[in-house]
Amino acid sequence: MTPQTDIIKKRYDRIAPYFDRIESMMEKMMFGDLRARIWQQVKGENILEVGVGTGKNFAYYPANKTITAIDFSPVMIQEAKKKRINLSLDVELLEMDVQALDFSDNHFDCVIGTFLFCSVPDPEQGLRELKRVCKPGGEVLLLEHVLSTNKFIASVMQLLNPLTVRLVGANINRQTVKTVQACGFSSVEVLASSSHLVKLIKAIK
Ligand SMILES: C[S@@+](CC[C@H](N)C(=O)[O-])C[C@H]1O[C@@H](n2cnc3c(N)ncnc32)[C@H](O)[C@@H]1O
Repeated sequence: MTPQTDIIKKRYDRIAPYFDRIESMMEKMMFGDLRARIWQQVKGENILEVGVGTGKNFAYYPANKTITAIDFSPVMIQEAKKKRINLSLDVELLEMDVQALDFSDNHFDCVIGTFLFCSVPDPEQGLRELKRVCKPGGEVLLLEHVLSTNKFIASVMQLLNPLTVRLVGANINRQTVKTVQACGFSSVEVLASSSHLVKLIKAIK
């Protein structure tokens, strides 16, 4: 693990016990509906969720699928395990860095991540890993906040970025659609329910 990855991991360890409370307002106002929309796109039987965090997506997991979920923060994984018990959910939870996934090539039908690539130190490396473990023809689905296309909002986001990285490990100035496009998928689609700030991305291997 690189020193930068270790720093970001420790930031998520630190906020994990409070994470759901920190985001509760945004979750109600913005995220819930978008989570439902991205999970509706999931196809296939063998699914990988990357950057599972405290397990906020558990409520959207489709029934009768084999789901594995990873996160590099052991404290996030602990929180997700508590939620797994409360919901009696059958999901395998593993501590793992998305930049170096411990799965064989072409293993999953679908790989999905929500609000992850704002914090991965080397997002292109992480995205190439998602592509590697996804089966040919399989989908990589992402829900990501990105740098706004509104010039004024984008300049404020650039100014605030060092602060958000320091506080919560998240970059608010990433251009994740472009990064996905650079990874050699056979197609990359930005779904219609995207906004200037939050993108739903479907990439086919
Ligand atoms: C902003 S949180 C989002 C959590 C969850 N996906 C959600 O939608 O609520 C980002 C998550 O990604 C994890 N993460 C960041 N970089 C990672 C990496 N390189 N490998 C695995 N997990 C990572 C963090 O520990 C954290 O749980």
